[in-house]
Amino acid sequence: MSSAKSLLIRHARIILPNGELMIGDVLTRDRQIVAVAPEISPTTPTKEIDAQGLTLLPGVIDPQVHFREPGLEHKEDLFTASCACAKGGVTSFLEMPNTRPLTTTQFAIEDKLKRASEKSLVNYGFFIGATTDNLADLLSAKPTPGIKIFMGSMHGQLLIDQEAALEAIFAQGTRLIAVHAEDQARINQRRQEFADIHDPAVHSQIQDNQAALLATQLALKLSQKYQRRLHILHMSTAEEADLLRQHKPSWVTAEVTPQHLLMNTDAYEKIGTLAQMNPPLRSPHDNQVLWQALRDGVIDFIATDHAPHTLEEKAQPYPNSPSGMPGVETSLALMLTAAMQSKCTVAQVVHWMSKAVAVAYGIPHKGAIAPGYDADLVLVDLNTYRPVLREELLTKCGWSPFEGWNLTGWAVTTIVGGEIVYDKGQLNTSVRGQALTFV
Ligand code: DOR
Repeated sequence: MSSAKSLLIRHARIILPNGELMIGDVLTRDRQIVAVAPEISPTTPTKEIDAQGLTLLPGVIDPQVHFREPGLEHKEDLFTASCACAKGGVTSFLEMPNTRPLTTTQFAIEDKLKRASEKSLVNYGFFIGATTDNLADLLSAKPTPGIKIFMGSMHGQLLIDQEAALEAIFAQGTRLIAVHAEDQARINQRRQEFADIHDPAVHSQIQDNQAALLATQLALKLSQKYQRRLHILHMSTAEEADLLRQHKPSWVTAEVTPQHLLMNTDAYEKIGTLAQMNPPLRSPHDNQVLWQALRDGVIDFIATDHAPHTLEEKAQPYPNSPSGMPGVETSLALMLTAAMQSKCTVAQVVHWMSKAVAVAYGIPHKGAIAPGYDADLVLVDLNTYRPVLREELLTKCGWSPFEGWNLTGWAVTTIVGGEIVYDKGQLNTSVRGQALTFV
């Protein structure tokens, strides 16, 4: 008899890799799924879950988060963020380099991997950030999902806003480049024009649609010139979606956040600077065009851009208030609620939040419920609605822009590598995720 740990999930509504629904059982052994069938005869599994009435999805892979460790742990750290992930059904994340120190070297990536191996309840990967003088690291660093370039909305070493400097990075190497596409020159000029206005709503005017479009155009131009794998992070405007719809090279992907689909500039009136992020929230028209682009495959997948700041930091008057909002705890429920409102299907949500991300970043064995795939799973309840409540949040920043929103599809049980990491409000903080690999 093998001493392998096994888990049998019974009577679940399983979303299969082809998008079809099957009521049945899933058996995992150690970290892998070993069987998916209408009925699996038990071979005395270590543990059994009766999932009657619940829907089983592959765990969410969130490909853009800012978890603040090292250096900014007063906002979030890898433990608190990974607890929030487990509660939100997020079983893997790709984290951004704007920590302190910046993640711009192999050494810094290894430091994050070590920290995550000690603290993270879910699986992890870390981007390397581009500066104007770390080309050697950009070419050789590993493991990493890719190179992050801030074309705008950044200051210091991580800002690369000159075409020549960008071109030097696009011209060498082949690995994925993920861009935060906002045109810094336009932002600087408009900041001066609107300098006297402290209403946070002006943020969307300063960093306007044109600022995003200009940078996306430039990134696409360079990507085409070198046929360089390009990913456009948190695409936010109708103009960018239209541009990609006209011509999207096969080596280009794009993502959108739930907030750019579901919130717009009306939010400033209700939640003020909590709605402030980069790229900013846009108009209802942008929401609509982004949804259509997502449904049509012009936009490939979903990321949250989880970017926590404390309430104290957010309480500063604009423009001193920092940009960013948390998201890993609410993203899956927001998207499944949208599915229940017929904006999309549950199978599309699975594709956008798991499979398409795994494919785009070359993460093997993730993003589907099938034998041989990793046992990263989430059971959700699509029958009940519950509001987002501040007191229930696990992110260290302790707030959400979606507080009060009544959502369905909340994670009931989250499984990482065959182990239950979250179950009906309880975390199992002894579970550890693994470093993701990228092929
Ligand atoms: O609003 C944002 N805040 N957008 C980003 O891309 C960065 C983030 C942060 O790190 O706070």
